[in-house]
Amino acid sequence: MKLQTARGTVGFEESGSGLPVVLLHGFPHDRTLWAAQLAAAPAGARMIALDLPGFGESDSAEVPSLDHWADWVVAALDALAIERAVIGGLSMGGYLAFALWRRHPQRILGLILADTRAGADTLEGQEKRVAMQAQVLKEGPGAIAAAMLPGMVGKTTRAERPRAVEYLDAMMRRASVEAIHDALDALRTRPDSTPTLATITVPTLIICGEEDVLTPVKESEAMHAAIADAQLALIPGAGHASCVEHPSAFNALLSGFVQARFP
Ligand code: MLT
Repeated sequence: MKLQTARGTVGFEESGSGLPVVLLHGFPHDRTLWAAQLAAAPAGARMIALDLPGFGESDSAEVPSLDHWADWVVAALDALAIERAVIGGLSMGGYLAFALWRRHPQRILGLILADTRAGADTLEGQEKRVAMQAQVLKEGPGAIAAAMLPGMVGKTTRAERPRAVEYLDAMMRRASVEAIHDALDALRTRPDSTPTLATITVPTLIICGEEDVLTPVKESEAMHAAIADAQLALIPGAGHASCVEHPSAFNALLSGFVQARFP
């Protein structure tokens, strides 16, 4: 579906009714990352998955920065008449959740930080983003999907869940050159969110696939230690795209959090 907001068209999907839970995908995904979560919306929750700027059915944002994207998400909340929501983000979506917390804490009831990290890119990481921008311009999204796929899933999924691997591969191949290019700018220039962690006062669920090699478990442990009201849950047999690789485990954690913390 498409939503008209003050900042342009936003692709989205929703299911269920009640407490708004807004889900933000990673790089280079789209809202279909969350299909299994929308298919099993917890009782009393309204699950909403957004296409981030340039991905899926969404327009590009004017400025490729996570701060600007945070304002863009708030424009989507306004258009959906949602005052406050639980914000869930996987990887890049988690980086965006930190920007949202810094800029619009009054709109956030709780956080779900999945397979993400607080730190900024290292210098080497920034250089890799620039190289990837050149690669996408030259070789297209397929080359980026091929480069990202090995790290996107854990070894158990690679061995045992070919459908999940194909699903993610196809999703990444659908991303446009422009969306990938802009997102790499937003990722490369994002600030260090480590100082933000101690400012988070809302209930926070941290989820990480035990086999995540892109944002390893130690990143989640560090966030857990620094956020006051946080719980950490690891998903065995899943890697970076834990919500796709092991949806039943992910969904059980999500609904347990929603029902315990927002009854
Ligand atoms: C993601 O899944 O969003 C990316 O791996 C994040 C990143 O490249 O830092």
